[in-house]
Amino acid sequence: MRILGIETSCDETGVAIYDDEKGLLSHQLYSQVKLHADYGGVVPELASRDHVKKTIPLVKEALKEANLTSADIDGIAYTAGPGLVGALLVGATIGRSIAYAWDVPAVPVHHMEGHLLAPMLEDNPPPFPFIALLVSGGHTMIVEVKAIGEYQILGESIDDAAGEAFDKTAKLMGLDYPGGPLLSRLAEKGTPGRFKFPRPMTDRPGLDMSFSGLKTFAANTISGNDNDEQTRADIAYAFQEAVCATLAIKCKRALQQTGMKRIVIAGGVSANKQLRLELEALAKKVGGEVYYPRTEFCTDNGAMIAYAGMQRLKNGETSGLGVKAQPRWPIDQLEPIA
Ligand code: KG4
Ligand code: ZN
Repeated sequence: MRILGIETSCDETGVAIYDDEKGLLSHQLYSQVKLHADYGGVVPELASRDHVKKTIPLVKEALKEANLTSADIDGIAYTAGPGLVGALLVGATIGRSIAYAWDVPAVPVHHMEGHLLAPMLEDNPPPFPFIALLVSGGHTMIVEVKAIGEYQILGESIDDAAGEAFDKTAKLMGLDYPGGPLLSRLAEKGTPGRFKFPRPMTDRPGLDMSFSGLKTFAANTISGNDNDEQTRADIAYAFQEAVCATLAIKCKRALQQTGMKRIVIAGGVSANKQLRLELEALAKKVGGEVYYPRTEFCTDNGAMIAYAGMQRLKNGETSGLGVKAQPRWPIDQLEPIA
């Protein structure tokens, strides 16, 4: 069985083909970063228009890369939410239309389930059950995962997502959008210990998180210090350290609370080296293991949608002839697969 996956929920157009016997056959990605750079963030209308231009050419490229034709595809998976409604509608409409033309089923996929299952594309996939730390530009949550679709949210950010906090702090430091990876690179030159940022909401029980205060703390630190390159790197270091330490403290609690030993990290911020190191240290302490996707599948991509869609389609799920686009869609509303 071969599934073509389409991702258009935000500012990346991703298309991939997944085969349940051979694995990933092709994947194509177009990032709109340059398009939105002048605005310092994603402009939804521009995002939708660009997905309209890029999706079909990427579908053709993905078929070509896999040396296949439309007749070799058994189903289409498209991201139905959460995300920007206009952007979602492009992928959903194109996905559903292609499925109609090719006479195959179409299945709507939950974007965060896609991220959560992305480590399954790697050689050493995590066995169930596990704790998943989902850290993207729009979401930050800790989920207890018993099986595909059996998700319980143990904690989440009550304000900014971790990626959002990275991007907003990077913007304060004059870095381009999306600033997360740039801030992280700047932090590599930072001096440990020069600045100390708080670890929000770790002084009280529970797994909820808050990151908007760190951005304010960064703003105050920036305005109260010189703007030389070393100081900027030191602030970036302290900010990143605080986010990663806070996430690690919350993950430790989640492991203690559930008795689990395996942690999956996924979503854009799972590309962050410091976060991986922190969680690997934690796993070592508890005799557990950390799993994450290869860097290119941490951020948005079509491969994770093709993989998640394959699981859902095998479970008999489709959107019929309808087109599903649901900007708000809590992950714990998903159904377990049979
Ligand atoms: O998962 P993703 O591609 O999109 C959403 O679903 O939101 O995540 C994008 C987010 C952005 O906020 C970006 O700055 C952040 O992931 N990100 C990083 C790194 N790479 C991407 N944040 C920190 N360090 C990184 N290396
Ligand atoms: Zn994402």
